[in-house]
Amino acid sequence: MLDIKITRAETLKEKPEDSKLGFGKYFTDHMFLMDYTEGRGWHDARIVPYAPLTLEPSSMVFHYAQELFEGLKAYRTESGKIQLFRPDRNVARMNNTCERLCVPKLNPDDVLTAIKSLVAYEADWVPHSAGTSLYIRPFIIATDAALGVHPSHSYLFIIILSPVGTYYAAGLDPVKIYIEKEYVRAVRGGTGQAKCGGNYAASLIAQSKAEEYGCEQALWTDGVEHKYIDEVGSMNVFFVINGEVVTPDLSDGNILPGVTRASSIELMRSWGLKVTERKVTAAELFEAHAAGRLDEAFGTGTAAVVSPIGELNDSGKSIIINDGKIGAISQRLYDELTGIQWGKIPDKFGWTVEIQ
Ligand code: COI
Repeated sequence: MLDIKITRAETLKEKPEDSKLGFGKYFTDHMFLMDYTEGRGWHDARIVPYAPLTLEPSSMVFHYAQELFEGLKAYRTESGKIQLFRPDRNVARMNNTCERLCVPKLNPDDVLTAIKSLVAYEADWVPHSAGTSLYIRPFIIATDAALGVHPSHSYLFIIILSPVGTYYAAGLDPVKIYIEKEYVRAVRGGTGQAKCGGNYAASLIAQSKAEEYGCEQALWTDGVEHKYIDEVGSMNVFFVINGEVVTPDLSDGNILPGVTRASSIELMRSWGLKVTERKVTAAELFEAHAAGRLDEAFGTGTAAVVSPIGELNDSGKSIIINDGKIGAISQRLYDELTGIQWGKIPDKFGWTVEIQ
């Protein structure tokens, strides 16, 4: 069992009002830290006051981006319990990302213990209002003070917590998405399926472009032909074409294997819907729309939850999906998924993990 040393903050912060939360703007009083040193492995697990870190300017993370992260949430149920949603999936994905970035893996049980202990310690920070939760951001940075390009010999594993509301300012209102065909997020053999900061840094230019077109986010297409749909960076995407739910498959390794994505597929199949993981082109979506067969589109993600897509913009040519309104499947998925997460409906899948 992981032995965690706790140092309590001398003063505690004032908590923000739930209505002002937004996403990732406020941080709790404490954070979790653990060091890795070659020869010793991961050691010195501790919960300490949330505070700036002191790092050498030469730390490798600043130069070669040897960094990775995860994102999951703690939910307060109506009966006052606090629960996590499929945290084992995040821990497994984090270790997969470690492997891709040559970062030493962590013991999955230790990571779960660290997450649960920090959330339990900061339980008062889990917000109470409908639609709010405590976002958990575990991440690892390379800390060797050296400029040679090679895997670091020392790392810091950190978990910070942030009480959050909705990711998009629009909440559950449909978002507008720009189909990116100039820049590339991922190619086969790259880091598309890893959750590393570098992927997000490289995406910012397309995000700015999307905003110029009046859209909230960029939808990535494949890096070879710009033909196949990949993902939206902050969420995986689904389309309902003539009653069938279609989502890009993971086989090329370009797409982040989202926990909400996997859960949505399982949930929709349990309702008897046909859900197909396959390649889908932007052209197919525009053709289906022209034929009146593109019923709905939505994104899924821990931060984004289920986010209806009301408009797709391909190089200035736009289509409006479902009259720009949330569709029946997107709404049911949102209701049932969040119903399980917030403990309002029974969790017949065994996805939730109670903390206290
Ligand atoms: C998440 O959904 O947890 C993410 O990490 C997406 C984003 C905020 C980068």
